[in-house]
Amino acid sequence: MARRVVILGATGSIGVQALDVVGRSDELELVGLAAQGSWERVVEQARATGVRRIALADPAAADDARSAWPEGEVLGGPDGIAALILESDADIVLNAVVGSAGLLPTIVTLGEGIDLALANKESLVAGGELVTALAEATGAQIIPVDSEHAALHQLILAERAHGAGTIERLTITASGGPFRGHTREELGRVTVEQALKHPTWEMGGKITIDSATLMNKGLELIEAHHLFGVPYEQIDVVVHPQSIIHGCVSLCDGAMLAHLGLPDMRVPIAYALHYPERIDVPVARLDLLAAASLTFEAPDLDAFPCLRLARSAAKAGGGAPCVMNAANEIAVRAFLEGAITFTRIPEVIEATLDELGTQPVGEFEQLFTLDHDAREAAARRLAAL
Ligand SMILES: NC(=O)c1ccc[n+]([C@@H]2O[C@H](COP(=O)([O-])OP(=O)(O)OC[C@H]3O[C@@H](n4cnc5c(N)ncnc54)[C@H](OP(=O)(O)O)[C@@H]3O)[C@@H](O)[C@H]2O)c1
Repeated sequence: MARRVVILGATGSIGVQALDVVGRSDELELVGLAAQGSWERVVEQARATGVRRIALADPAAADDARSAWPEGEVLGGPDGIAALILESDADIVLNAVVGSAGLLPTIVTLGEGIDLALANKESLVAGGELVTALAEATGAQIIPVDSEHAALHQLILAERAHGAGTIERLTITASGGPFRGHTREELGRVTVEQALKHPTWEMGGKITIDSATLMNKGLELIEAHHLFGVPYEQIDVVVHPQSIIHGCVSLCDGAMLAHLGLPDMRVPIAYALHYPERIDVPVARLDLLAAASLTFEAPDLDAFPCLRLARSAAKAGGGAPCVMNAANEIAVRAFLEGAITFTRIPEVIEATLDELGTQPVGEFEQLFTLDHDAREAAARRLAAL
């Protein structure tokens, strides 16, 4: 029987590639689609795929979709997305929403015991131990879609067949983004257009800026810690401009296992949606002779302080990663709108972390409050600039 799939964030970069993956597989059946406000695209996707139920987080967009698509069912608002997850009898939900708006769908999915294909790293960064504890309590699996984490998931699973305790370190690679090699002073003059030109991946706006600031690796460091239960001191970030090696695992006998492939998100999306099966994916194959050379360098934490900020928020724990994530979202949006320079992004995050400090977090409700407070604090910082 086909696996029933709901795609959240269906109109985004990951969502559209996921539709391609689902459309090619007899083993997957699409049963629900959701987005924020792009109702015309979601209705179009529903018509093209035969999906009968969609959700739009923006209630006004949901109203428009209802008028244009009376033959289908349209759910509206954040509760509508939750209802879509709960009422679709899904076997797996792909959360490809951008930002901490993905936290509620992650909680609803895992709380219901439904497996989660997780692209929305922000929900794991903000939700941390509470999210993984929820998955453990209900038995739902979190299968990463992020290419680095999909790589580590495969390497760790393969290694665990040899028993526990053989893994010493994890390495996640970073392309370095469009400004690799820039000084801090040069970064103060870069434009939004330049920042949106990622050298190896084509992605949505927010993650592309996160890649340029290296905050994306900071988020991924926290994501890796929660997914694999490895201490932060044992997770390395290495800049690898070719984006061919996605992740490595260092073992107790001195061996290092690496996962290689051309940068194409359909590979980790297909892996997550079919896991534990593996299927044919029609993407270009890696030719080592064509790749010729793979290079590595240490990230420049002076020019790109976001990675340093993420490590210290991770170490502080509690609500700090949630605050950092919310402040980053506000600062990135301001940069994309042309309101601040690129180098102001880490400044806003650091000031927000300093203002709100670290607070213990025991319930999801506290995270939503903290996310809200951090957004307000970051907006105050922006207004004061
Ligand atoms: N793109 C990549 O290659 C890549 C790789 C690894 C991980 N990721 C992660 O995957 C997630 C999505 O990235 P992306 O690049 O696909 O982003 P994107 O292209 O900007 O798409 C974002 C999607 O989220 C939807 N959305 C935004 N706010 C929402 C809300 N409040 N409720 C429901 N849906 C909402 C958008 O709907 P509308 O169109 O209606 O606004 C859109 O469908 C991010 O967490 C990112 O870090 C992405």
